Amino acid sequence: MHDILPDDLLYWEKIRRVTFDMAEFYDFGFVQTPILENQAVFEKSLGVTSDVVEKEMFTLKTKGGDELALRPENTAPIMRAYLEHGWESLPQPVKAFYMGPMFRHESPQAGRFRQFHQLGFEVIGSEDAVIDAQMIQIVMSLLADFGLKNMVCEVNSLGDKVCRVKYKQALKDFLRNNLKKMCSNCQRRSKVNPLRILDCKEEGCKEIIAKAPQILDFICDDCRNHFKKLLEFLDELGIPYNLNPNLVRGLDYYNRTVFEIYIEEKRGSQSALASGGRYDGLAEMLGGKTTPAIGFAAGMERIIIEMKEAKARIPSWPQYKLFLVQLGDLAKKKSLKILEEFRKEGVLMAESLSKHSIKSQMKNADKLGVKLTLILGQKEALDNEIIIRDMTSGVQETVPLAKLMAEVKRRLKS
Ligand code: HAM
Repeated sequence: MHDILPDDLLYWEKIRRVTFDMAEFYDFGFVQTPILENQAVFEKSLGVTSDVVEKEMFTLKTKGGDELALRPENTAPIMRAYLEHGWESLPQPVKAFYMGPMFRHESPQAGRFRQFHQLGFEVIGSEDAVIDAQMIQIVMSLLADFGLKNMVCEVNSLGDKVCRVKYKQALKDFLRNNLKKMCSNCQRRSKVNPLRILDCKEEGCKEIIAKAPQILDFICDDCRNHFKKLLEFLDELGIPYNLNPNLVRGLDYYNRTVFEIYIEEKRGSQSALASGGRYDGLAEMLGGKTTPAIGFAAGMERIIIEMKEAKARIPSWPQYKLFLVQLGDLAKKKSLKILEEFRKEGVLMAESLSKHSIKSQMKNADKLGVKLTLILGQKEALDNEIIIRDMTSGVQETVPLAKLMAEVKRRLKS
């Protein structure tokens, strides 16, 4: 878990602005779910054998006996909200987006944190493959607008819960002869969630997995057509994608389309910048009626790391053009008022109210490279006047406080 410091603020701000603009264009509504949810929301939907539920959730029990979890992701909470607020009766599909902290007790490493932030988009209530394509288009456009280049989308279909059973069986048959040669993690997974073996990163396991049966050979005609349509849309959009039969994602709620976005050169070595997929069974897992849905989430810290590396353009801090120097108690009191008047007028002004000596305050003004310094000394404060010093020419002029705002605005304009 880490502090976010002012140095990074402009990156966060750029991501926020781009995301809200994208959401506005595509008509997504901003939804904020609580950071604490009932633990069961995640157990029922991500699956008790998923890494997230099994090892990574921060959970707590309240004095009243409620079992809560710091949300490790936000798709299940969004679906919980959809069901809880009766959004089934709204025109479908419902489009929601979010941004906020998530928590997973993972081993910290580059780009992997225990508190991290995701932005995410979810469309609930449509099974049309065009929406799958649109979600991939949106995430690719977001990353491009953040200033990242060379993104590629890894994509796969997991079929549905019926056709996946056949595949699981074929995989189990294959593993029967090979499991002994695989790592202990794969051996454990083969019992609880054999599909997860496919994304094992151990070299020895990868060689064996390369010969394993592939899910796309097992999915039913409906799922195959859905996937084919998605790929046709992606071709039409010119989105670079890579069919990855070993992409299974780690959460139980996924079916059909799954995808992950990487920077091309870093594929393999790096974790995904964004990932998502279809979760047509999630509503049912949470006690609702079957409702098709798809979405994605992107890791904001990972995006910022890449934005820095790509030297992405970010907004700049506003430049101070004015500095207020004060001397003595009365001047200090009046300074507070002057600052507030300038703030209300939208004119940026720097100060160092806690400093007493004129010399050190002037040094600060110099450092900021302001155009004008306003000097409120003891005499000026008594006479309701103020000195305006032009920092380029060094020329000073005393003006009545009542005329200060107009005079400053005139000089800043010229
Ligand atoms: P996820 O793949 O677990 O999917 O996370 C989505 C993104 O969050 C990842 O691609 C990564 O960028 C970021 N991320 C995940 N864990 C960490 C971490 N420990 N530190 C930093 N960044 C991390 C989900 O969370 C799904 N809810 C996505 C989704 C939305 N599927 C459908 N709708």
